[in-house]
Amino acid sequence: MTTNSPSHKSFASDSPEMADYVMRTFKPEDPILAEVRKRAAESGLPPIHVSPYDGLILEVLARAANAKKIVEIGTLAGYSGICLARALPEGGVLHTFEFEPKHAKVAQESFVRAGVDHKVVIHQGPALNNLPGIERQGPFDLVFIDADKGNYPGYLHWAQKHLRMGGLALADNAFAWGLLAAPDSDPRLKEEHNRVAKAAIEKVNQTFADPTGPFRGAMIPTGEGLAIGVKRA
Ligand SMILES: C[S@@+](CC[C@H](N)C(=O)[O-])C[C@H]1O[C@@H](n2cnc3c(N)ncnc32)[C@H](O)[C@@H]1O
Repeated sequence: MTTNSPSHKSFASDSPEMADYVMRTFKPEDPILAEVRKRAAESGLPPIHVSPYDGLILEVLARAANAKKIVEIGTLAGYSGICLARALPEGGVLHTFEFEPKHAKVAQESFVRAGVDHKVVIHQGPALNNLPGIERQGPFDLVFIDADKGNYPGYLHWAQKHLRMGGLALADNAFAWGLLAAPDSDPRLKEEHNRVAKAAIEKVNQTFADPTGPFRGAMIPTGEGLAIGVKRA
């Protein structure tokens, strides 16, 4: 039997041609999401939303989880929120948490324009303070963590307590911009906030990786690293 598959199985493809093929084939960004990205930039928001393709992965994962109740921590302009809300059936809800009032306002407009505003509740303020306000509506099917990195372990701890068994926890930027594999001499580690982010993300990855831990986890090798865990305890 012949095969073209190499004996060394790489972590992810680094072929730009394959990336082009996938984008052309799956067309992850429709005009609504493109408008959100443009309006967010025009409103002065930083371009730190998920990529179009990562947004599609979020929607597909939420559909696979048959999610009816989703929590998102870190709304920004609503880009990833729209992707998640699109996976919800009628009657489903996305609770999304955002610290900055300006971001929350832009996001509200995004949800209206995407026609998903009736499924979305924006909670403005520090997420760790506001999360207890929805606990009685749990357990939740999916929690997507994409806000201040130092609080990632706290967010994952909350998710573990309030996800249903078999529910999904997802954490974006799980490569910590490459810092996790960088030497201690990396100049970025001179900055306190990068050291804090690296340690916090490392802790989250360790929780997902622990074979006896509360999640069965893996790393999806997106450009930023999307850590995923299925709650099992
Ligand atoms: C990476 S962006 C979120 C991007 C968004 N998930 C997307 O892909 O479209 C992170 C957001 O988290 C917000 N944020 C930072 N600290 C926060 C906190 N303590 N509570 C809630 N939101 C916070 C920031 O203001 C920012 O809008």
